[in-house]
Amino acid sequence: MINRVLAGIRATGRLHLGNYLGAIKGMIELQNNSEYETLYMVADTHAITTPYNVEGLKTGRREVFIDYLSAGLDPEKSILFLQSDIGEQVEIAFYLSSVVSIARMQHLPTYKDKVTQYPNSNTMALLNYPILMAADILAYKASLVPVGVDQEPHLEVAREIARKMNQTYGMDFPEPKRFATQGEYIPSLTGEGKMSKTVSGSYINLTDSKEEIQKKVRSIPTATEAGGEITGGLKTLFMLGRIFIPDETIRFKEDFMNGTLRFVDFKDALSEAIAKDLEPFQEKRAQISRDTEYVDRVIKEGAEKARVIVKKTLHELKSKMGLT
Ligand code: TRP
Repeated sequence: MINRVLAGIRATGRLHLGNYLGAIKGMIELQNNSEYETLYMVADTHAITTPYNVEGLKTGRREVFIDYLSAGLDPEKSILFLQSDIGEQVEIAFYLSSVVSIARMQHLPTYKDKVTQYPNSNTMALLNYPILMAADILAYKASLVPVGVDQEPHLEVAREIARKMNQTYGMDFPEPKRFATQGEYIPSLTGEGKMSKTVSGSYINLTDSKEEIQKKVRSIPTATEAGGEITGGLKTLFMLGRIFIPDETIRFKEDFMNGTLRFVDFKDALSEAIAKDLEPFQEKRAQISRDTEYVDRVIKEGAEKARVIVKKTLHELKSKMGLT
């Protein structure tokens, strides 16, 4: 069996540095490895599981698609598509839901967090989120999923569903594993929790200018005793430092321990490196977003290729479940 890779990012806004380091870098690495067939989707269907704005979604899902192309996901090497273009995935999700208990879904930390965040939107769609994600993966019989570590509980659900479907109906779904990258957990600029689109002040956008990046990095809270414990914003700073300027960070760390570190020097060296890293992305993005026809064509062709694979799985699944 071929090694298939599937990943998606929720289309709830433009991509930020956390998505880039946690997911996109891994997606590109696998795309460029000839042992794998890679499928990358913009998870727009998932975006309706929490309150959203119709116009925002309409443009947002396309923007994320353009972000994918600009970051180096290549339609010649990967199948790139919008999740909602493949309605069969939703159909598969319904069939898979027949082997999942309500209690199992209610106990997921990701579900509980969202209910806390949106207490008035505790919907069936939200409860079904992990099943739809399992369907995304199993529809392509993917065995590897490059996502951040926060998605591990969802992958566990996908593995359980795969096992149950294999045992009950004789399917041959692989149990999907997570492909981890160095930046699998990027902390928030606020020093609390992870970098997230839904927490303002927590993230750097991939389209942020040099000045914006500098301003955001300078605002990372580091008011701590020199040589003290590395927690909160300081931890964020050192973590980003290790990714973008590893050698200098070793020196900055020594300075910190000696009590001679000037935080602004560290921060400015870091923001400069981040801005430099994002430059090719930003240049490519300006170019691609002007070419509407190209983007339309890639979206259409990606959906056509993805559909061929999904239809096969759907047919097999229906037939094994007694629906043909
Ligand atoms: N839940 C993922 C996230 O929030 C997005 C996602 C949806 C996904 N379907 C997927 C990721 C399938 C990997 C595979 O980031």
